[in-house]
Amino acid sequence: MTSHGQFITFEGTEGVGKSTQLENAADTLKSLGVDVVVTREPGGTPMAESIRELLLAPRDEPVNDMTELLLMFAARAQHLQTLILPELEAGRWVLCDRFTDATFAYQGGGRGVPVEHIAQLENLVQGAFRPDHIVLLDAPVETGMTRARHRGELDRFEREAVDFFERIRQAYLDRAATDPDRYHIVDAAQPLEVVSRDVTSLIRGLVTRP
Ligand SMILES: Nc1ncnc2c1ncn2[C@@H]1O[C@H](COP(=O)(O)OP(=O)(O)OP(=O)(O)O)[C@@H](O)[C@H]1O
Ligand SMILES: [Mg+2]
Repeated sequence: MTSHGQFITFEGTEGVGKSTQLENAADTLKSLGVDVVVTREPGGTPMAESIRELLLAPRDEPVNDMTELLLMFAARAQHLQTLILPELEAGRWVLCDRFTDATFAYQGGGRGVPVEHIAQLENLVQGAFRPDHIVLLDAPVETGMTRARHRGELDRFEREAVDFFERIRQAYLDRAATDPDRYHIVDAAQPLEVVSRDVTSLIRGLVTRP
């Protein structure tokens, strides 16, 4: 009997260390003999990556909130059906850099889109599918921004003001508080080695769980 893999997402505001800790988690899983696939949102398949480019490109034309929301879920539908679900069914664990919690945090908390609208699209696109575990890397907004600042051109989201990201951070924390069994808050303001140690032990715990 093949057992399904687990779907683990990495969330948090800009520059908190999502990509770094996703790689760390992938290495941890591989060292334990788990087959792992690493992916990201928006994106993860060629078509979804094209939608990502549409979403992130800075542009003069104001982007309507509903347009942004629908594009996020359009990319997600493609990613879910053509990559995430088949990989999980094949028994591999899928680690994803952002998923639907980011939509609740960015489009909901950040942009002010009603949560019910996001929840409707979540049900439409995903049915009952939700991440098995969410690693929420939490740090003051400025900490992440300072870490990410060495990057080149800012994308459309990175051009937003600090209070936009403060609302996002709070939205993530509020969601995490509703389901502590699935949401794992990691203090991402700590030095890299400490955050990595915390994430490694969290991931090891998920593998060895009865
Ligand atoms: N705990 C930490 N302490 C100091 N620096 C860190 C820490 N974690 C990650 N970094 C560094 O901060 C930068 C941003 O990390 P990373 O790219 O993993 O963040 P991210 O959350 O994926 O960012 P983005 O939102 O832009 O995708 C990198 O240069 C990384 O090496
Ligand atoms: Mg990243």
